[in-house]
Amino acid sequence: MLSKSLIATGLCFLLAEAIPHNDVLSRSQSSAMDSYLLYATSYSGIVHTLNLTLPAPGCNGAASLRAVATTDQCGGKPSWLTFNHDNSLMYCTNQGFGTPNGSLTSFQTSKDGSLTPLSQVVTPYGAVHASIYGDGGKGMVVAHYSGSAMSTYSIANPASLQQLESWTWQLEKPGPNPQNAPHPHEAVVDPTGNFILVPDLGADLIRIFAIDRTTLKLTTLTPHATPAGSGPRHLVFHVTEGKTLAYLASELGNTVTVFEVIYQANNAGLVLNQVYVTSTHGEGNTAPKGAAAAELVFSPDNKYLVVSSRLEGTLSIPNFDPKNETAIPSDPIFNFEVQQETGALSLVQTVPAGGMVPRHFSMNKAGTLVAVGLQQDFRVVIMKRDVATGRLGDIVAQIKLDGEVTFVIFDE
Ligand SMILES: *[C@@H]1O[C@H](CO)[C@@H](O)[C@H](O)[C@H]1NC(C)=O
Ligand SMILES: *[C@@H]1O[C@H](CO)[C@@H](O)[C@H](O)[C@H]1NC(C)=O
Ligand SMILES: *[C@@H]1O[C@H](CO)[C@@H](O)[C@H](O)[C@H]1NC(C)=O
Repeated sequence: MLSKSLIATGLCFLLAEAIPHNDVLSRSQSSAMDSYLLYATSYSGIVHTLNLTLPAPGCNGAASLRAVATTDQCGGKPSWLTFNHDNSLMYCTNQGFGTPNGSLTSFQTSKDGSLTPLSQVVTPYGAVHASIYGDGGKGMVVAHYSGSAMSTYSIANPASLQQLESWTWQLEKPGPNPQNAPHPHEAVVDPTGNFILVPDLGADLIRIFAIDRTTLKLTTLTPHATPAGSGPRHLVFHVTEGKTLAYLASELGNTVTVFEVIYQANNAGLVLNQVYVTSTHGEGNTAPKGAAAAELVFSPDNKYLVVSSRLEGTLSIPNFDPKNETAIPSDPIFNFEVQQETGALSLVQTVPAGGMVPRHFSMNKAGTLVAVGLQQDFRVVIMKRDVATGRLGDIVAQIKLDGEVTFVIFDE
């Protein structure tokens, strides 16, 4: 009797053999490999297109992660990528360290991974995040961490980006943690498309703006004050059981706070009503001194929330170099199950991020893979994820890039 794995190996062999003779099958079906394109930014000034290949389910073989294209046209300090997949467009923010300004650049993406620059605008300093907003996706809002600013653009013509408005803020008095200036870290559009929320790490605020969806003009509403010294960083929405919840990772307080979003009549505004808060390390635990919460991501099925923390180095992984017996120090990634009725979080797993300073990470659409950008280690790792159990698994591929990795995402 043939064992299951022998049958699988035989099938993989047949599939691999079939490629040269059968050009009807598409590339991903014909090979015994699954392949994915990803994009990763690094402070070397390079945006990398990466090709991840994995043995198809049931097939043997090694995974690989290779750079297939690069561009240096985003500017010197690329920090975030925003996509319009329908039109194969990518927008890259550049923090602009060492120069007076940041920048925003649009690119055409391509199936072969190449990135063609279309248009670039000078922005306020320290651009760290951008979102598309407005009817037809014609607006873009950018948060500027080091510039204490926010700015908006018309991207109606991606080959001719135009600045619309900008805001710069100051602190009346320094925050306790210590916070010497406002630091807008992100500008997130709510699920209705009518509001923008901006976690401000320096001011301990979530700034709130109403969108005019046709003119793209923003109106400042009353901000939500977060606890002094908490340092709000990144926020994600979760629509469940007729409620809209917002999950906030606070970098300085190392907490995840859950708010119910209460919309006022006639789109007049919104109020954030706190319903739950936990340490990034789970209920009853505290983050070590010096820890800095970074990214938070919902699984595609919305059942799990995954959160990364930086500058802990409390975990380790085996060296990627089999000849090197020294373990690689790693920061943690926390995997929470989301209680659907209350929005509360139960810590179910803590795993090594794959190295130090997991500033950003993302999941593929199927929820089977997690790509982690490790800023301090100049590395991207790919981790498996079990969709049925929500558990994060082994690191299956990795690549060392030429600078501090700031962002990584699957092209899907
Ligand atoms: C990615 O790698 C696979 C397997 O080698 C290959 O078939 C595919 O063409 C590559 N894709 C790109 C865009 O380079
Ligand atoms: C560029 O930086 C300067 C100095 O901070 C600032 O005054 C100017 O508004 C910035 N330009 C744009 C387009 O934001
Ligand atoms: C072995 O790995 C450690 C941890 O990554 C690294 O610091 C060290 O330089 C490596 N040694 C060699 C000989 O490559």
